[in-house]
Amino acid sequence: MVDISKAGSFTFGVCSVKRLGYGAMQLAGPGVFGPPKDRGAAIAVLREAVASGVDHIDTSDFYGPHVTNQLIREALHPYPADLVLVTKIGARRGHDASWIPAFSAEELTRAVHDNLRNLGLDVLDVVNLRSMHGIHGPAEGSLEAPLTVLADLQRQGLVRHIGLSNVTARQIADGRRICEIVCVQNHYNLAHRDDDALIEELAAAGTAYVPFFPLGGFTPLQSTILSDVAAGLGATPMQLALAWLLQRAPNILLIPGTSSLGHLRENLAVADLALTADTVSALDRIAAG
Ligand SMILES: NC(=O)c1ccc[n+]([C@@H]2O[C@H](COP(=O)([O-])OP(=O)(O)OC[C@H]3O[C@@H](n4cnc5c(N)ncnc54)[C@H](OP(=O)(O)O)[C@@H]3O)[C@@H](O)[C@H]2O)c1
Repeated sequence: MVDISKAGSFTFGVCSVKRLGYGAMQLAGPGVFGPPKDRGAAIAVLREAVASGVDHIDTSDFYGPHVTNQLIREALHPYPADLVLVTKIGARRGHDASWIPAFSAEELTRAVHDNLRNLGLDVLDVVNLRSMHGIHGPAEGSLEAPLTVLADLQRQGLVRHIGLSNVTARQIADGRRICEIVCVQNHYNLAHRDDDALIEELAAAGTAYVPFFPLGGFTPLQSTILSDVAAGLGATPMQLALAWLLQRAPNILLIPGTSSLGHLRENLAVADLALTADTVSALDRIAAG
């Protein structure tokens, strides 16, 4: 079994995690709605992730809804002492699987309690407030009211740390005036590099940057350069995409999502994949092109 600690670790807030983690969104049914096709397989992926050394799992109670958190609880509770579960709030699901902004004090408070109940926890390690000002990418707009509610839930002892998701640099700076922001979760990968400058700023501040869609999400990355370079190294394109993120900045934590044991093993094996400067330059051409 690969030693995933070779990919390094990072400390944010009081949480210290290995940089290779796991994103649980893919475990719910199609469209992140309803139960998985194969519940046993979903449980097996979660158990193998943790058995392989993963100590950082990203989730939300709006995956399913409730389904993903209930799977995590069934597979892993009582949780290993070092496991950090990071969840997010700010949306709810319609009966038609739609994603509906849920930013009132009542909805945010309910979301925290839903996460606590479905994960079987008394306190949530990290809660990301997911901005819905832009559904498909960050857009300016005040997060003061919802962040104040979340900071209040933190003061009540229900939340250890707070992060932000789908946000701009300005929203992060404004957020820091309300509470400590330990991590930021935005869309980023080797083909989608809007946050290049933000990543450097967050690294300097000791804030974790956790890219969602590290493999391209619902449209997995496809690039001739990526495939050619991967073939030359005897790696897969997805492994190369993850290895590129690991070398990109020390505060980047990976949460690739998969419902497949084979893909999980492939993704964790990147701990053994070091990239040369020439390989990185070749991959940097993907975004440039
Ligand atoms: N904050 C937010 O707004 C937000 C938004 C989206 C996601 N997230 C979080 O970020 C995590 C990662 O994002 P994501 O899961 O959407 O996207 P992703 O990790 O970029 O890609 C997942 C997709 O890639 C496939 N895949 C995974 N490993 C593979 C491999 N080795 N080879 C080929 N295909 C592979 C998966 O299919 P298989 O299941 O078949 O492997 C799935 O279709 C999520 O799990 C979630 O926790 C957060």
